[in-house]
Amino acid sequence: MVAALASPHLSPYAGAAVTAAIIDGRAIAAEIRAELRGRVERLRQRGVTPGLAFVLVGENSASISYVRSKAQASEDIAIRSETIHLPSETTQEELLALVAKLNAEPTWHGLLVQTPLPSHISEDAIARAVDPQKDVDALNPVNMGLLLRGEPAFLSCTPAGIQQLLLRSGRDPAGKHVVICGRSNIVGKPLAAILMQKRPGANATVTVCHTATRDLAAITRQADILVAAMGVPRGITADMVREGAVVIDVGNNRVPDPSRKSGFRMVGDVDFEAVAEKAAAITPVPGGVGPMTVTMLLWNTVQAAERAAGEERRPR
Ligand SMILES: NC(=O)c1ccc[n+]([C@@H]2O[C@H](COP(=O)([O-])OP(=O)(O)OC[C@H]3O[C@@H](n4cnc5c(N)ncnc54)[C@H](OP(=O)(O)O)[C@@H]3O)[C@@H](O)[C@H]2O)c1
Repeated sequence: MVAALASPHLSPYAGAAVTAAIIDGRAIAAEIRAELRGRVERLRQRGVTPGLAFVLVGENSASISYVRSKAQASEDIAIRSETIHLPSETTQEELLALVAKLNAEPTWHGLLVQTPLPSHISEDAIARAVDPQKDVDALNPVNMGLLLRGEPAFLSCTPAGIQQLLLRSGRDPAGKHVVICGRSNIVGKPLAAILMQKRPGANATVTVCHTATRDLAAITRQADILVAAMGVPRGITADMVREGAVVIDVGNNRVPDPSRKSGFRMVGDVDFEAVAEKAAAITPVPGGVGPMTVTMLLWNTVQAAERAAGEERRPR
């Protein structure tokens, strides 16, 4: 636990009288990456180099940039990576054949097929084709099922990162009421499954909200820990937050900003300035949940290599 990573401080956010502690995702991510470097080194001494293969289909510029930064992050902690970039005309059969080939190669401990895929390829079919033992992005339903049952599984990267943010900033969710706004397969559902488990680092009472939730604010105000993962810019306002709550903002929304050269800026799903005056602790955007997602991809890859080398850490 690193309490200093979440101490109250004056806000770096213009004009905001932030009284909440800022949970610093960059610092916690750096701490975890340093630990992972040690685990990679231990594997290396046993003759094992963790390997992570990326598959990219088409020319989506955001996807190209995401894969580049994930590959760089891998190399930074001495994980070997390779990106296989296929043209957008690649057929589903060709992609399935490549996935099968990578599944069979023991030097690749992790395999990530970047989404979105071109519309003629079923993302679901590809997710199911990735070997669950190499599924470091945790998109295969087998891993989701194992997670729900409380059995060892790869955890979805963003939810696993949120759990680490809570634990490493000294905010164990055990016994707390966690309210999650959003039920997607990559954030809301796996986060609920992680935090509801009867085990250390979890053991929370979890409520999941969505667009059919009646009186959302009445439920969010009951949260000890409130997680906003709706994709609605500043959708969580101060009146929806209990005094002293911990607020985790997963949102990553592009909003127009003529004062910026780019013409836009990123905001979260939480009205940061107002909520930070009420919350005990809050994650910023950027610099909160975001840096944790890639970090947990690296974590899963190291874990996959440890598992392949017969030294898996349990439980998770
Ligand atoms: N920082 C990161 O690493 C990271 C990673 C993943 C996602 N994100 C960000 O997190 C946000 C959510 O992503 P996602 O992929 O989970 O989104 P998604 O697939 O669009 O799901 C959004 C969820 O929020 C619910 N929702 C939408 N509007 C709502 C409202 N007004 N009240 C209550 N619930 C509402 C939806 O309910 P229904 O199910 O009823 O439609 C849905 O379950 C986005 O801003 C995304 O960019 C960030």
